[in-house]
Amino acid sequence: MNYSDSGYHWYPGHMTKAVRMMQENIGLIDLLIELIDARIPMSSRNPDIDRLGAGKARIILLNKSDLADPDCNRQWIAYFQEQGAHVLEVNSKTGAGVKAINGLVQEACREKIERDRKRGIVNRPVRAMVVGIPNVGKSTFINSFAGKACAKTGNRPGVTKGKQWIRLNKNLELLDTPGILWPKFEDKQVGMYLAFIGSMNDEVIMTEEMACSLLSVLHKSYPDALQARYGIAWEDDPWATLEAIARSRGCLTKGDGLDSRKAAGILIDDFRSGRLGRMTLEQIGTRC
Ligand code: G4P
Repeated sequence: MNYSDSGYHWYPGHMTKAVRMMQENIGLIDLLIELIDARIPMSSRNPDIDRLGAGKARIILLNKSDLADPDCNRQWIAYFQEQGAHVLEVNSKTGAGVKAINGLVQEACREKIERDRKRGIVNRPVRAMVVGIPNVGKSTFINSFAGKACAKTGNRPGVTKGKQWIRLNKNLELLDTPGILWPKFEDKQVGMYLAFIGSMNDEVIMTEEMACSLLSVLHKSYPDALQARYGIAWEDDPWATLEAIARSRGCLTKGDGLDSRKAAGILIDDFRSGRLGRMTLEQIGTRC
């Protein structure tokens, strides 16, 4: 991966392989379970998902909802529902919200189930695949959703060798490997959001640059968060604010100067882990 002023260029070799695998698998499934990050519901979507998923039923899961602003979660759910999507908020780490997916699967696949029934096919389970950009929580979700139902069903005729299906119940089978999608990598703002949530390799962007950009977003959307966490106020510009965090956290270099890089690391860690509070960076309107 590399970064330049013209935007983010993100297409490492292993991604090409993953994408090919995804495209191969998509023919085998009825339903796409699309995971997005509730903190950046737009930027964590794949720009080609509508084309890739054409003709398939689809569910959108706002994952990591525990780290996002609860009001914003509700607003985003309403937004996607208005567009006709089947959507739920989940926390794959604890499993919260995951059970409700079974009902949604039936809803999303109603047409397919009805079509099967008319052809005399009954009880053919829906086959689903989890998809999403890196780090959005795909593996965590599969583990959480599959729970103890990890008995693999083995290879099937017509299924690429080695492919495994997890039988969740009589109505639903899940491909055990998620499909990795690429993000909208040409947009610099999207790239920065992805960096905040840790979906971009941290080496791509300078930590301080990332922290300053995050501080600007926080200043606009969550102006009290810095006071609550570090006991500091916004200082006219992001760099001065970062230095205030360095002072407050005692981040000093050997020569007794301020270690803004260390402060930047602290800020980003605090954001990613939710210690700054539940926050949604991409909001509908200005403040949800
Ligand atoms: P991926 O397959 O899409 O690449 O993502 P993966 O499941 O590896 O999850 C990426 C990180 O996101 C993991 O953290 C995972 O624990 C965390 N995660 C996934 N879903 C949720 C969620 O709903 N809420 C929260 N708070 N975190 C979630 P990690 O730091 O890489 O690992 P770990 O320290 O949690 O073990």
